[in-house]
This record gives sequence, structure tokens and C-alpha cells, in this order.
Amino acid sequence: MKRILVLGAGGQIGSELVPYLREIYGASNVVATDVKQCDALSAAGPFEIIDALDADGYAAVVDKYKIDAIYNLVALLSATGEKNPQLAMRINMGALQNSLEIAREKGCSLFTPSSIGAFGGEFPRDNTPQDTVMQPNTIYGVCKVAGELLSNYYHTRFGVDTRSVRFPGIISNVTLPGGGTTDYAVEIYYEAVRTGRFTCPISHDVYMDMMYMPDALRAAVELMEADPSKLKHRNSFNIASMSFTPEIIAEAVRRQVPSFTMDYDVEPVKDAIARSWPNKLDDSCAREEWGWKPQWDLDSMTRDMLAAVRRKMDK
Ligand code: SER
Repeated sequence: MKRILVLGAGGQIGSELVPYLREIYGASNVVATDVKQCDALSAAGPFEIIDALDADGYAAVVDKYKIDAIYNLVALLSATGEKNPQLAMRINMGALQNSLEIAREKGCSLFTPSSIGAFGGEFPRDNTPQDTVMQPNTIYGVCKVAGELLSNYYHTRFGVDTRSVRFPGIISNVTLPGGGTTDYAVEIYYEAVRTGRFTCPISHDVYMDMMYMPDALRAAVELMEADPSKLKHRNSFNIASMSFTPEIIAEAVRRQVPSFTMDYDVEPVKDAIARSWPNKLDDSCAREEWGWKPQWDLDSMTRDMLAAVRRKMDK
């Protein structure tokens, strides 16, 4: 059985990816790691503290558990990154560089997610192609593009089995995202349950790709399990499931919570970032090369999110 290490397991994706992987591969084969203790993850399987910037400590854990696949989830997100670009560059690039080198030295496969945030500049906003101009103007996006290029380089130059998807904004109900441009699409559900109203930081008409966490988890694992001979691309695949504006998600919430209201207090930094990203990705390469297919749409996700957030608040 594969032995997997998840770096940055305490974050929005890791806190759900670890249980998902443990279901598939067995709890003892999935080592959760984070810079700080995570009780929920350590109670259910192996857990180690790793500072992703400490290459020796990281390598020692990979050796200890004889790891053969790494999911590198360490990243400061787009809006937080703009508050401290130097820190974001140090963390995002440092975790990437250490992961690539450890994967090369120890023969591990490596998943490092890219993002819709990797796009920027003059590219088609609608049906954004797999291969197009990528000139992001956030430090988060610059690190993601660098990650895509370096992951491809490690694959062709050293034969490292690097793979990646460009995640849309991920909507989830276990761990809150922190400091992303797409966070509004999570917060709206919490506020719909808590207060019945929401003040949106993004303009009413700005489209962004979004994805419900169960689809995101499945995408990562399906790509890591895909037959390598079928992959023409590696780093990184466009994947998509839904694209909406604040107005459209508010309508979806209102279909479940008719009294819900939303107003706007647009945050210029986040709004500018959102406008620099795709409206809607073309994910046909992922569909063709490894059979990607989303299972959730806006209405099914909205029903599930509202129910999950209600359960959380009842506790
Ligand atoms: N969710 C991320 C952000 O908003 C994009 O990948 O920064």
C-alpha cells in the first residue's frame, strides 16, 4: 500500500484530504503533518510536526515513514500574500523547493496544487484554455506559476512524478480558508445560517470558478492515481465544476433561505485580484487525459453546505 505524507495538513484542504486519503489507503499509511499540532488529525492516525522550510526535519519524517507520495498543501493565499509578499514568497516557494528536492532524492511522487490564481495578464477570461498567457500580478499567483514550471522541470530533468491541478476557489465546511479572494463563497453560507445576511467584498458581477470540497479531493487523488502514459500535461490541469458571481450564489442561497439578503462593501484589493482571474476555465484536457468529471453543482452544493453549517452551529 502507498505511504503518503500530507504537508500542511491542518489547512482548509488538508483537514479534509487526510481523512479522505485514510479511508482509501488506511489510516496508518497516511501521515498528516503541519507546523502546529492538529488534534483531530493526530487522533485518527500518524501525525508529525513539520516546518516545511526545515528541509532536514521534513526529510527525516519522509524517511521515518518510508513515504512514497507527498501532497504539498503549504501556501499563504492570495489576499494574505499581498499583505506580506516577502513572507508569502518565502513560505510558498520554500515548501515547494523542499518538496521537489525531497521527492527527487527519495523517489516520491509529488502533488502541489496550482490555482485559478496562476492566471493573469491578457488571456481569454471565458473558457480559459489549458495553455495560455499566465502573468499573474499577485505573489500567490507568481509562486503558483513558478511551481507549475519547476514541477515540470523536475519531471523532465529528473524524472520526478510531479502532478497538479489548478484548483478553483474551494468551498468547504470543516476548516475555514484563510485570506483567499474566493473566501466570500464560503463565508456567505456561514452568514446565511448565522444572521441571514451577508456583506460581500467582491463586486456583484465578477465571475470566478469554484468547486465543492468533495470534488476537489477526488480530483487530487484521481490525478495521482492516473495512468502516467495518458498524461500529456502534468503541471497543471485546469479543472472546473461551477462558475458564478456573488449575485448568482446569493440567488442560490435564497432558493434555500428565502429571507437571505446580501449587500456589498467591495474590498478593492480582493476585487482587483478577482477580476484578474478567469471567469470560467476550460477543463477539457483534464477530462480527456484522466477522466475528470465534477459531481457537484451550485444548487446541490448549496443544500449540502447549508445543512453542514447548520449541524456545526447546533453543536
Ligand atoms: N482560493 C485561493 C485564493 O482565493 C485561490 O486558489 O487565494
